[in-house]
Amino acid sequence: MTDITLPNLWDAAHAATLDEPGKLLYRSNLLGSDLRITNFGGGNTSAKVAHKDPLTGASVQVLWVKGSGGDIGSMKLDGFATLYMEKLGQLRAQYRGLDQEDAMVEALGHCIFNLNPRAPSIDTWLHGFVPKAHVDHVHSDAVIAIAASADQVRLTEEIFGGEIGYLPWQRPGIDLGIKLGDLAVARPDLKGVVLGQHGLFTWADTAEDCYALTLEIINKAAVWLAANEKTPAFGGAVVDSLSGADRLAVARRLMPLIRGRISGAEMKAGHFTDAGPVLEFVNSAQLAVLAPMGTSCPDHFLRTKIKPLVIAADIDAAGLDAALQGYRADYAAYYDRCKHDNSPAMRDPNAVIYLVPGVGMISFAKDKATARISAEFYLNAINVMRGASGVSVYQGLPEQEAFDIEYWLLEEAKLQRMPKPKSLAGRVAFITGGAGGIGSASADRLLREGCNVVLADIDQDSLDEVVTGFGKKYGRDMVRGVLMNVTSEDAVTQAFEATVLAFGGVDIVVNNAGITTAAPVEDTTLAMWNKTMDILSTGYFLVGREGYRIMKDQGIGGSMVFIASKNGVAASPGASAYCTAKAAEIHLARCMALEGAPLGIRVNVVNPDAVLRGSKIWAGEWSQQRAASNKISVDQLEDHYRKRSLLQRSVFPEDIAEGVYFFASDLSNKSTGNFLNVDAGNAVSFTR
Ligand SMILES: NC(=O)c1ccc[n+]([C@@H]2O[C@H](COP(=O)([O-])OP(=O)(O)OC[C@H]3O[C@@H](n4cnc5c(N)ncnc54)[C@H](O)[C@@H]3O)[C@@H](O)[C@H]2O)c1
Ligand SMILES: [Zn+2]
Repeated sequence: MTDITLPNLWDAAHAATLDEPGKLLYRSNLLGSDLRITNFGGGNTSAKVAHKDPLTGASVQVLWVKGSGGDIGSMKLDGFATLYMEKLGQLRAQYRGLDQEDAMVEALGHCIFNLNPRAPSIDTWLHGFVPKAHVDHVHSDAVIAIAASADQVRLTEEIFGGEIGYLPWQRPGIDLGIKLGDLAVARPDLKGVVLGQHGLFTWADTAEDCYALTLEIINKAAVWLAANEKTPAFGGAVVDSLSGADRLAVARRLMPLIRGRISGAEMKAGHFTDAGPVLEFVNSAQLAVLAPMGTSCPDHFLRTKIKPLVIAADIDAAGLDAALQGYRADYAAYYDRCKHDNSPAMRDPNAVIYLVPGVGMISFAKDKATARISAEFYLNAINVMRGASGVSVYQGLPEQEAFDIEYWLLEEAKLQRMPKPKSLAGRVAFITGGAGGIGSASADRLLREGCNVVLADIDQDSLDEVVTGFGKKYGRDMVRGVLMNVTSEDAVTQAFEATVLAFGGVDIVVNNAGITTAAPVEDTTLAMWNKTMDILSTGYFLVGREGYRIMKDQGIGGSMVFIASKNGVAASPGASAYCTAKAAEIHLARCMALEGAPLGIRVNVVNPDAVLRGSKIWAGEWSQQRAASNKISVDQLEDHYRKRSLLQRSVFPEDIAEGVYFFASDLSNKSTGNFLNVDAGNAVSFTR
C-alpha cells in the first residue's frame, strides 16, 4: 500500500534564515505544493507580526493573511494583505448583523497597513479573530470528506478526539469569523476547527508548529478514512473501462461536438483526463446518485458548476443536443428557484464537467488553464465523495447556499473587475512549420491574443526550443508541440487528433510549413519537382482537409490562413517548381473558401516576400542561389530586396504574423477567398 500520510518538509535551517513574513510564505508554499493538502487557489494562511507603524513609529500588531485570489502554493510575499489588528477589532465592534456582512468586507479597506494594495479576502476575519499568532485554512480532501458526511459532527469528535472543534456550514464572512474566534477563546484546548461542508482551520504559536499541526490533522483524517471506508469505493464498478486507445477515441469524437454546442459568445477550451480515480467514479454504481448531488466545498463548485453532466460514450449528435438542452434547462430552473431580487443575471448555463462512463472526464472553460484546473477541482470533489460515502452518507451543499455563493454580489463584483477577454481567448490554432521564422512569429501573435496554439513541425529540436520559450512566456497550458511531416497523411491525422485531445477542437489553421527549391527548368529533376509539390501543395491539402473536417464537426466555422508567396502570383525565373506549388496553394485556398463558406469556414492567403531575418529558408542554399541569380553577395540580399520593394522597406516575420492575425481573427470575418500581400509592395504581385 502506498503511504497516504503527508511528509513534513520543514527545513529548520532554512527557516532560521527567514523573518516572520518570510516564514509565513515558506509555510504557505509548502502547504500549497501538495494538492492533498489544499486545492489550487484554495485555503489561506496568516501570521500576526509586530511592525513599526509608518505613521506613528509605535509598534503595532499586523495581520499578514493571503489576499483575495492567488494560490498559497505559488504565491509570493506580495500576495499577502496586511491589516492593523487593532482596527480589525474596532470594525468587529461595529458589526450589527448578517445583512451588514458584505458592507463589512468593503470596510476592511480602512484596516490596511502600510498602503498594501493587495485586497483582503472574505476569510480575513476568520484569521484575525483567532487569538493565535499562526493560522492555516486548507481545503484538504480528507478533511472535507468528513465535513461533507451526514455524520460530520460525530466523526469530527471520533477522529480528532476533542482537539479539533466543529462549526456547521456558513458562508465565510465576519459572522463566521466571530463564531470561530469565540470558539477558540472559549475552548483553549482546541487546536483547530472543522468547518461543515468546507474545510479545516488550525492554529499554533509558531509557523513551524502550525505547519506540522495542519499535516498531522490531515494525516489523521486520511488514515482514519482509509482504515474505515467500505470497499469497493462507490459501490464498485457497473461499467467496464474501454481500452486506453478507445477512451481517447471517444474523447476525440465527443470534444469537438460538445465544444461546438457550448461555445457561444465565449469560446471554450477543453481538457480530458482518464486518470484512475476518475474512471473509478464514472464507472461506479453510485455515479447516478452522487453526481447529481453536486460538490460540497464552495471552491469546488465555483469552478465546476454545482453538478456535472453525465453522457454515454456512444451518444450521437441528437442525443448530445438533448442532453445539453436538458442541463441548460435544469440550470435555468435552479437559477429561478434560488434567485433574489438583486441577484446578478444568469450566467452561462452550460456544464463545465462532462463525465463519460467507461471513458473519463471532459471539461470546458474560457481557457485551457481554467479547464484543466476545473478538472482538478472535480477530482478533489470525487475524493471528497469517496471518503464521505465510504464512511457515512455524502452530503452536498444545500442548493440555496450554493446559489448564494455562486451569485454572491461580492463574487459578481470580482468577475466584473476581471480584464476583458482577449480577442482570441478560448480559440485553438494549429500552425504548421511552427518552429520556423514565420510560423513562430505567427504563433507569438496569436498567443498574445489569448489563443491556444499547437505548433507542428518536422524539426524536433527547434520545436522543443520554441515550445519551451512560449510556455515560459504565455504559460504551459497555452501551447503544445507535435512532430509532424505535412506530407504524411497519417502524421497529419494524428497531429490533429492530439490537438483535439489537448484543447477540444480547432478554430484556426495556419498552413505555413515550407521549403524552397530553385533550378532552371531544364535542370529541375523530377525528384525536386515532386518534393516541392509534396511539401507545399499536397502538404497544404492534407493539413487543410483535416482541419476542415474537425471544423465541420464542431459546426462553428473557423479560419484558415495559407502562407503562400509573392511567387504564387508572380512568376520568378529559376524556381518553376516552387512558384507552381505556391500558385497551387493559392488556388486550393480559393476552392476551400468556396466549399467552406456555407459552414462559416473562411480561407485566406498571406503572401510574404523576402523575409530574410528569422527564416531558416534563407539560412541555407536558397540565399546563395538568390544572390548568384541577382549577381550580388549573400550579405547584400536584405538590402537588395528592400530596394526592390515599392515601399523600400524590409519585411519581417512579425509583419507576416500581423496578416495571419487579421485573417485568423474576427477582424476579417467578412473576408474569404482573399489574399493579402505583405511584401513592402511589388507591382508584379498586385491583385487583379
Ligand atoms: N521567408 C520568406 O522570404 C518567404 C517568402 C515567401 C513565402 N514564404 C513561405 O513562408 C513559409 C514559412 O517560411 P519561413 O520563412 O518561416 O521558413 P522557415 O524555414 O524558417 O520555416 C519553415 C518551417 O517549416 C518546417 N518544415 C519544412 N518541411 C516540413 C515538413 N515536410 N513538414 C512539417 N514541417 C516542415 C521547417 O522545419 C521550418 O521550421 C513557407 O511556406 C515559405 O514558402 C517565405
Ligand atoms: Zn475555504
